[in-house]
Amino acid sequence: MRVSLVLNGSTVTADADPHVLLVDWLRANGLTGVRVGCETSTCGACTVLLDGSAVKSCTLLTVQMNDASVTTIEGVATGGVVSPVQEAFMAEHGLQCGFCTPGFIMSATALLATDPEPSDEEIEVALEGNLCRCTGYINIMRAVRRAASVMRGETPEPVAGRSHERAVVRHVATGAASHEELGDTEVV
Ligand code: FES
Ligand code: FES
Repeated sequence: MRVSLVLNGSTVTADADPHVLLVDWLRANGLTGVRVGCETSTCGACTVLLDGSAVKSCTLLTVQMNDASVTTIEGVATGGVVSPVQEAFMAEHGLQCGFCTPGFIMSATALLATDPEPSDEEIEVALEGNLCRCTGYINIMRAVRRAASVMRGETPEPVAGRSHERAVVRHVATGAASHEELGDTEVV
């Protein structure tokens, strides 16, 4: 079947088999930032934006995308400049292995597009369909709060001054003998 959609800002027309899932079609066309995790609508690794809303692309057929606008993680940056959400995930170390990260960023992007000042509960609701097997949820929450703050034009809290977690990052990066040696050291 012929399908025409706006994909990451560009109009694309292509043939797609009626049974092909959107996640598989995207990945087959080079957009491998869209991850295949559970394939059962549980993990959120395959999350993309469909007309601005976060959806799980393992639950949709490509042919359903006719006349739609689809954005993947590859389309979030503008002109090579990462988005505030992407920047915040890097700044707050909102990832570990990174497998889940594109999905979280897409869900957070959808949230902040409609709610510039979400409460923690609202962030949790928006992200409840995304799972992180590295369990990095504390920093993910921080990342979304930071992105929201930046997008509201506020100056975010410096990352360097706060953190036990940053100390752990340093621990990993420097090969320090033990986590305990670092304690609650403020890393600057
Ligand atoms: S791969 Fe789609 S929700 Fe897990
Ligand atoms: S960072 Fe590894 S699964 Fe989330």
